Amino acid sequence: ANASLDRALGLVREVPDFPEPGVLFRDLSPVLADADAFRAVTDALVAALPPGIDTVVAIEARGFLFGAAMAVTAGLGLVAVRKPGKLPAVADRVTYALEYGTATLELPADTLAPGARVVVVDDVLATGGTVEATAGLVARAGAHTDAVAVVIELAGLNGRSRLPGGAPVTALLTV
Ligand code: PRP
Ligand code: HPA
Repeated sequence: ANASLDRALGLVREVPDFPEPGVLFRDLSPVLADADAFRAVTDALVAALPPGIDTVVAIEARGFLFGAAMAVTAGLGLVAVRKPGKLPAVADRVTYALEYGTATLELPADTLAPGARVVVVDDVLATGGTVEATAGLVARAGAHTDAVAVVIELAGLNGRSRLPGGAPVTALLTV
């Protein structure tokens, strides 16, 4: 039992019909805005890390918030995987399918060492496409996705099934 974490997750706001009709959007803004809640969520994500992780790979934009907090808390380096056109030096990029259209993510040059043991961090796991694509960048860099950490998993979309086999997925809230 972790009363601080339960309280933090109770702050997640449910917003109907965002970004489009029929979608119930989980908004983590109130969690971030509450110092104790942000701390509780960060500590819980760090506590779930398997041994041997040396690098946080965080996904733009909301994954940066939790990934950066985890990295500082756990004493890990951070690699920020970015949306296209933001990075001056790109090591690799991946384009993946969305419901409508495609998305691209870019890995910054000279950041992810071959052999690195990585936790991939995002705020929400939905279809899993974003984390799957990021794990692909990690693999192509010769590094290893040893863990996936998210605050919220939308279980009905079965994103977990798309993730690299063997990497444990931590989700603090499954809805
Ligand atoms: C959201 C969320 C995850 C992704 C999850 O990001 O933060 O990154 O979608 O969806 P998936 O599991 O179906 O791939 P969004 O594209 O809204 O970007 P943002 O963080 O920049 O707001
Ligand atoms: N909340 C935040 N991000 C998301 C969601 C959600 O409900 N669905 C897909 N990305």
